[in-house]
Amino acid sequence: MYRVGILTASDKGAAGEREDLSAGAIREIITGLGWSVAVYRVVPDDLDVITGALVEMVDRDGLDLVLTTGGTGFSPRDNTPEATRAAIEKEVPGIPEVMRAVSLQKTTRAMLSRAVSGIRKRTLIINLPGSQKAVRECLGAIIDSLPHGLEILSGKGGECGS
Ligand code: MTE
Repeated sequence: MYRVGILTASDKGAAGEREDLSAGAIREIITGLGWSVAVYRVVPDDLDVITGALVEMVDRDGLDLVLTTGGTGFSPRDNTPEATRAAIEKEVPGIPEVMRAVSLQKTTRAMLSRAVSGIRKRTLIINLPGSQKAVRECLGAIIDSLPHGLEILSGKGGECGS
Protein backbone atom coordinates (compact mmCIF):
# COMPACT_ATOMS: atom_id res chain seq x y z
CA MET A 1 0.00 0.00 0.00
CA TYR A 2 1.38 3.42 -0.94
CA ARG A 3 0.92 6.61 1.08
CA VAL A 4 -0.40 9.38 -1.12
CA GLY A 5 -0.75 13.13 -0.60
CA ILE A 6 -3.24 15.39 -2.34
CA LEU A 7 -2.34 19.05 -2.72
CA THR A 8 -4.98 21.39 -4.11
CA ALA A 9 -3.68 24.74 -5.36
CA SER A 10 -6.61 27.13 -5.43
CA ASP A 11 -7.11 30.64 -4.09
CA LYS A 12 -10.87 30.03 -3.85
CA GLY A 13 -10.43 26.59 -2.28
CA ALA A 14 -8.03 27.94 0.35
CA ALA A 15 -10.51 30.71 1.17
CA GLY A 16 -13.26 28.13 1.63
CA GLU A 17 -15.20 29.50 -1.34
CA ARG A 18 -15.12 26.38 -3.52
CA GLU A 19 -15.92 22.73 -2.84
CA ASP A 20 -12.88 20.60 -3.69
CA LEU A 21 -14.46 18.15 -6.12
CA SER A 22 -11.21 17.32 -7.90
CA ALA A 23 -9.51 16.23 -4.67
CA GLY A 24 -12.56 14.07 -4.01
CA ALA A 25 -12.13 12.40 -7.40
CA ILE A 26 -8.43 11.76 -6.70
CA ARG A 27 -9.27 10.29 -3.28
CA GLU A 28 -11.86 7.97 -4.84
CA ILE A 29 -9.38 6.65 -7.42
CA ILE A 30 -6.50 6.27 -4.94
CA THR A 31 -8.52 4.48 -2.27
CA GLY A 32 -9.97 2.28 -5.03
CA LEU A 33 -6.42 1.03 -5.63
CA GLY A 34 -6.10 0.14 -1.93
CA TRP A 35 -3.67 3.02 -1.30
CA SER A 36 -4.12 5.53 1.51
CA VAL A 37 -4.53 9.30 1.33
CA ALA A 38 -2.24 10.17 4.25
CA VAL A 39 -2.12 13.94 3.72
CA TYR A 40 -4.58 16.38 2.15
CA ARG A 41 -3.81 20.08 1.91
CA VAL A 42 -5.38 23.07 0.19
CA VAL A 43 -3.14 26.08 -0.42
CA PRO A 44 -3.52 29.37 -2.30
CA ASP A 45 -1.83 29.76 -5.68
CA ASP A 46 1.34 31.48 -4.39
CA LEU A 47 4.47 29.97 -5.91
CA ASP A 48 6.43 29.86 -2.64
CA VAL A 49 3.50 28.46 -0.65
CA ILE A 50 2.97 25.61 -3.14
CA THR A 51 6.71 24.84 -3.23
CA GLY A 52 6.86 24.85 0.57
CA ALA A 53 3.91 22.49 0.84
CA LEU A 54 5.44 20.07 -1.68
CA VAL A 55 8.80 20.07 0.13
CA GLU A 56 7.06 19.36 3.47
CA MET A 57 4.98 16.57 1.98
CA VAL A 58 8.20 14.90 0.81
CA ASP A 59 10.79 15.78 3.49
CA ARG A 60 8.54 15.67 6.56
CA ASP A 61 5.67 13.40 5.57
CA GLY A 62 7.70 10.94 3.46
CA LEU A 63 4.85 10.21 1.06
CA ASP A 64 5.30 7.86 -1.88
CA LEU A 65 3.21 9.94 -4.26
CA VAL A 66 1.94 13.53 -4.25
CA LEU A 67 -0.85 14.44 -6.67
CA THR A 68 -1.49 18.13 -7.13
CA THR A 69 -4.64 19.51 -8.67
CA GLY A 70 -5.14 22.95 -10.17
CA GLY A 71 -2.98 25.82 -11.28
CA THR A 72 -1.51 24.26 -14.43
CA GLY A 73 -3.09 26.65 -16.94
CA PHE A 74 -2.53 30.13 -18.30
CA SER A 75 -3.90 32.36 -15.53
CA PRO A 76 -1.33 34.71 -13.95
CA ARG A 77 -1.95 32.85 -10.65
CA ASP A 78 -1.34 29.39 -12.17
CA ASN A 79 1.99 28.55 -10.50
CA THR A 80 1.83 24.82 -9.80
CA PRO A 81 4.27 23.68 -12.55
CA GLU A 82 6.86 26.28 -11.52
CA ALA A 83 6.48 25.33 -7.83
CA THR A 84 6.86 21.67 -8.74
CA ARG A 85 10.02 22.34 -10.77
CA ALA A 86 11.45 24.17 -7.74
CA ALA A 87 10.74 21.17 -5.49
CA ILE A 88 11.85 18.25 -7.68
CA GLU A 89 15.34 16.89 -8.31
CA LYS A 90 14.53 14.89 -11.46
CA GLU A 91 11.85 15.55 -14.06
CA VAL A 92 9.65 12.70 -15.37
CA PRO A 93 8.43 14.08 -18.71
CA GLY A 94 6.72 10.89 -19.87
CA ILE A 95 3.89 11.18 -17.36
CA PRO A 96 2.52 14.55 -18.53
CA GLU A 97 3.27 13.53 -22.12
CA VAL A 98 0.90 10.57 -21.76
CA MET A 99 -1.71 12.61 -19.89
CA ARG A 100 -1.77 15.19 -22.67
CA ALA A 101 -1.67 12.62 -25.50
CA VAL A 102 -4.63 10.67 -24.11
CA SER A 103 -6.52 13.81 -23.08
CA LEU A 104 -6.12 15.36 -26.54
CA GLN A 105 -8.37 12.60 -27.87
CA LYS A 106 -11.13 14.00 -25.65
CA THR A 107 -10.47 17.76 -25.90
CA THR A 108 -7.91 19.89 -27.71
CA ARG A 109 -7.95 22.09 -24.59
CA ALA A 110 -5.68 19.47 -23.03
CA MET A 111 -2.85 21.36 -24.74
CA LEU A 112 -3.51 24.20 -22.31
CA SER A 113 -2.29 22.27 -19.26
CA ARG A 114 1.39 22.92 -18.46
CA ALA A 115 1.46 20.03 -15.95
CA VAL A 116 4.85 18.59 -15.00
CA SER A 117 5.96 15.54 -13.03
CA GLY A 118 9.14 14.73 -11.18
CA ILE A 119 10.93 13.05 -8.30
CA ARG A 120 12.16 14.50 -5.02
CA LYS A 121 13.99 11.95 -2.86
CA ARG A 122 11.75 8.85 -2.98
CA THR A 123 8.54 10.71 -3.77
CA LEU A 124 6.88 11.07 -7.17
CA ILE A 125 5.03 14.36 -7.71
CA ILE A 126 2.45 14.66 -10.50
CA ASN A 127 0.50 17.77 -11.50
CA LEU A 128 -3.13 17.25 -12.54
CA PRO A 129 -5.39 19.98 -13.92
CA GLY A 130 -8.04 21.54 -11.71
CA SER A 131 -11.35 20.17 -12.95
CA GLN A 132 -12.82 16.93 -11.69
CA LYS A 133 -13.30 15.73 -15.28
CA ALA A 134 -9.67 16.45 -16.17
CA VAL A 135 -8.44 14.72 -13.00
CA ARG A 136 -10.33 11.55 -13.88
CA GLU A 137 -9.15 11.60 -17.49
CA CYS A 138 -5.50 12.34 -16.66
CA LEU A 139 -5.20 9.88 -13.77
CA GLY A 140 -6.99 7.25 -15.83
CA ALA A 141 -4.38 7.66 -18.55
CA ILE A 142 -1.38 6.94 -16.28
CA ILE A 143 -2.65 4.85 -13.41
CA ASP A 144 -1.72 1.43 -14.86
CA SER A 145 2.01 2.18 -14.88
CA LEU A 146 2.20 4.03 -11.56
CA PRO A 147 2.54 0.93 -9.32
CA HIS A 148 5.61 -0.19 -11.27
CA GLY A 149 7.23 3.24 -11.03
CA LEU A 150 6.50 3.52 -7.31
CA GLU A 151 7.83 0.02 -6.69
CA ILE A 152 11.18 1.02 -8.17
CA LEU A 153 11.24 4.47 -6.53
CA SER A 154 10.45 3.12 -3.08
CA GLY A 155 13.04 0.34 -3.39
CA LYS A 156 10.36 -2.29 -2.80
CA GLY A 157 11.20 -4.11 -6.01
CA GLY A 158 10.19 -3.68 -9.61
CA GLU A 159 11.33 -6.11 -12.28
CA CYS A 160 10.90 -4.31 -15.60
CA GLY A 161 10.72 -7.47 -17.69
CA SER A 162 7.90 -9.06 -15.67
N1 MTE B 1 -7.25 17.60 -19.61
C1 MTE B 1 -8.26 16.73 -19.66
N2 MTE B 1 -7.99 15.44 -19.70
N3 MTE B 1 -9.55 17.12 -19.66
C2 MTE B 1 -9.88 18.46 -19.59
O1 MTE B 1 -11.09 18.77 -19.58
N4 MTE B 1 -9.03 20.76 -19.44
C3 MTE B 1 -7.98 21.64 -19.96
C4 MTE B 1 -6.56 21.20 -19.58
N5 MTE B 1 -6.45 19.77 -19.47
C5 MTE B 1 -8.81 19.41 -19.54
C6 MTE B 1 -7.49 18.92 -19.54
C7 MTE B 1 -8.16 23.04 -19.66
S1 MTE B 1 -9.63 23.71 -20.21
C8 MTE B 1 -7.22 23.82 -19.03
S2 MTE B 1 -7.41 25.51 -18.96
C9 MTE B 1 -5.97 23.23 -18.52
O2 MTE B 1 -6.12 21.82 -18.39
C10 MTE B 1 -5.44 23.83 -17.22
O3 MTE B 1 -6.32 23.59 -16.14
P1 MTE B 1 -5.98 24.09 -14.66
O4 MTE B 1 -5.57 25.55 -14.75
O5 MTE B 1 -7.24 23.89 -13.89
O6 MTE B 1 -4.86 23.28 -14.11
